Amino acid sequence: MKTYHTHNSLSIAGKVVLITGAYGLIGQTISFAFLEQGAMVIMADIDETKKSTLENKISKDFSDDQFLFQTLDIGNEKSCRNTMDAIIEKFGRLDVLINNAGLDAKFDKDSTGKINHSRFENYPVDLLRESVDINLTGTILISQYACKQMIKQKSGNIINVASTYSVVSPNQNLYDFGDGNQHFKPVDYVASKSFVPNFTRYLATFYAREGIRCNAIMPHGIFNDHDDAFQKNFAHLSPIGRMCDREELIGPFTFLASDASSYMTGALLSVDGGWTAW
Ligand SMILES: NC(=O)c1ccc[n+]([C@@H]2O[C@H](COP(=O)([O-])OP(=O)(O)OC[C@H]3O[C@@H](n4cnc5c(N)ncnc54)[C@H](O)[C@@H]3O)[C@@H](O)[C@H]2O)c1
Repeated sequence: MKTYHTHNSLSIAGKVVLITGAYGLIGQTISFAFLEQGAMVIMADIDETKKSTLENKISKDFSDDQFLFQTLDIGNEKSCRNTMDAIIEKFGRLDVLINNAGLDAKFDKDSTGKINHSRFENYPVDLLRESVDINLTGTILISQYACKQMIKQKSGNIINVASTYSVVSPNQNLYDFGDGNQHFKPVDYVASKSFVPNFTRYLATFYAREGIRCNAIMPHGIFNDHDDAFQKNFAHLSPIGRMCDREELIGPFTFLASDASSYMTGALLSVDGGWTAW
């Protein structure tokens, strides 16, 4: 067959990818999918309780030289520095940083009881500070350490994980289950994720001529055993009429991590079933 164009590859094989918050819902999905596609994956997370189970699982299917498990607190400078040192020692470079770690008050069954349901005017400022420390300051901190290395390489790719609540307000009707109790998506999440699109543009333009690009992905409503009342509300409010299967994120993440998106920087890729389209 005749070839008319040069196609930049969608392959991520051989790329060294640091995924923060790698033991969580999205982090695990992307880590496994990237390993399956031949990437070298650094799975970094603060939650040491899940580490050994995941490590056992991954070592059965992938060779030791393809992955690294790293305890990381993105809110702690020393921990960010140690993580970058460990990556360079093992792989010698960092091609892609996925800023996925975050605190999120979710309504799935795993998170039941963990959400503070106070109305805005009563929401505890300590919880706001905690979210800002991790979702905002922590994301910047780990990016600073990654960028120091990417500058040396004159190449790099950063993918920030935004949320629809980075650009629109939560529709609080989603959290009205008709049970007589008021539930709210809290302000700390909105405040600490709203910076992601503009931080993405900041990094994109700051480093555009130094070989480093930066984009954000905007997922919404990843299904994780949510109860029927939540799913029913979601289906009613979502243009596509259903929650997102976690596997539907793999294509968009792969695209942004690959050279197929080489002319993209500063963009926000919606993977939200149309949530922000009306
Ligand atoms: N699940 C969704 O529907 C959804 C939708 C939109 C955006 N997001 C975003 O996707 C990202 C991942 O969400 P998720 O649903 O997988 O959440 P999750 O809670 O399942 O995973 C988050 C992971 O981050 C880790 N983490 C928390 N604090 C950390 C720290 N200081 N340092 C390192 N790791 C830390 C946690 O241990 C956890 O493993 C978040 O940024 C979230 O805002 C999620």
